[in-house]
Amino acid sequence: MKSGETELPEYSSSDEDFVDPWHVASKSATGIDYDKLITKFGSQKIDDNLITKIENLTGKRAHHLLRRGVFFSMRDMHGILTLYEQKQPFYLYTGRGPSSEAMHLGHLIPFIFTKWLQETFDVPLVIQLTDDEKFIWNDITVEEANRYAHENAKDIIALGFDINKTFIFSDIEYISSCPEFYMNICKVQKLVTYSQVKGIFGFDVSDSIGKISFPAIQAAPSFSSSFPRLFKSKKDIPCLIPCAIDQDPYFRMTRDVAQKLGGVKPAVIHSTFVPALQGVQTKMSASDPNASIFLTDTDEEIRIKIKRYADSEGGINMTDEHKKRGSYLTDISYQYLTYLMTDDDKFTQIERDYACGVLAREQLQEILIKLLQKIIGKHRQNRALVTKEMVKQYMTPRNLECSIVT
Ligand code: TRP
Repeated sequence: MKSGETELPEYSSSDEDFVDPWHVASKSATGIDYDKLITKFGSQKIDDNLITKIENLTGKRAHHLLRRGVFFSMRDMHGILTLYEQKQPFYLYTGRGPSSEAMHLGHLIPFIFTKWLQETFDVPLVIQLTDDEKFIWNDITVEEANRYAHENAKDIIALGFDINKTFIFSDIEYISSCPEFYMNICKVQKLVTYSQVKGIFGFDVSDSIGKISFPAIQAAPSFSSSFPRLFKSKKDIPCLIPCAIDQDPYFRMTRDVAQKLGGVKPAVIHSTFVPALQGVQTKMSASDPNASIFLTDTDEEIRIKIKRYADSEGGINMTDEHKKRGSYLTDISYQYLTYLMTDDDKFTQIERDYACGVLAREQLQEILIKLLQKIIGKHRQNRALVTKEMVKQYMTPRNLECSIVT
């Protein structure tokens, strides 16, 4: 894309699938049409060539979330790979909106993949906790939002991010301690008009000015100059953002202003959404306990939820008719296994057996329940080991280690 050219498609409420940072809905029984979303958002599909290129450059098998198409779309990934090839630095930026104490499975997916990116490319990572955003949008106090940020930081730390390469920050805290971060926010705010955010996010005149100006705060960590203490004041390190596709509007806006404020356009890699327990037409949501598997759910709660809800066909077993319809692809238990089962041989076998009806839905659910209980049980144990002191360490700005960034 030439500089000065805009990449901001207009917000439209008339399309069949609806995806923005706050709503995800599809009228289709097969869920969101992600190929259409690529066209609508103007991103690029992750194809086999790109996956092979990643494998060849890193000498490592691509992560199952890449191979199974969960991370399916991108902007400028080839540029990032060229940097890696030339031993030039880049850093990762991702985030979490701390809307409640409990995170769910859907929140975990981008972080699991981000950890793999960090380990594979050996790069620093910044994680933004948007407590300001959640205060502005939700019915919670600013103190609660800040407390949730610290609680969520524990879940993120429990995934095992390298302390020497990872900085986690709450917006509320970091804005008041780092002038360079706030300076970048101001620069973005000056460059984006109300009419542009209205076009990108669908805001209208009744929305608070907090909502209208927030996108600048999510944009600013895309610029390494927002982190002078992390990168030894190196101001132009390129950034790669792993996120779910609903966050893309923020980064379209960011890319549009990047060069005007003297920064580098961030690259982005997008994932699909983990569907709600009730079906593929929407995503897991923290505000609906019955739609989500929480990281705090007990073994029994997991069993009950999968049995009761993850049953898009109303409890039937695999029948000839079911087979004919090929409906296993939209089956929630099958979908969750796509995200969670790391063993490829096992996954392929299950897929084959389920598609042809050798494996019944109940058996598939049993496999999922066991796997979920194992993953969430392990997470619970790891989280219990995260101390306040550790949270403080991750959240203290300090020089981040990286073999390339000097
Ligand atoms: N707005 C995101 C949310 O509500 C949080 C977020 C901030 C984020 N910065 C990000 C997500 C960068 C992905 C990448 O969850």
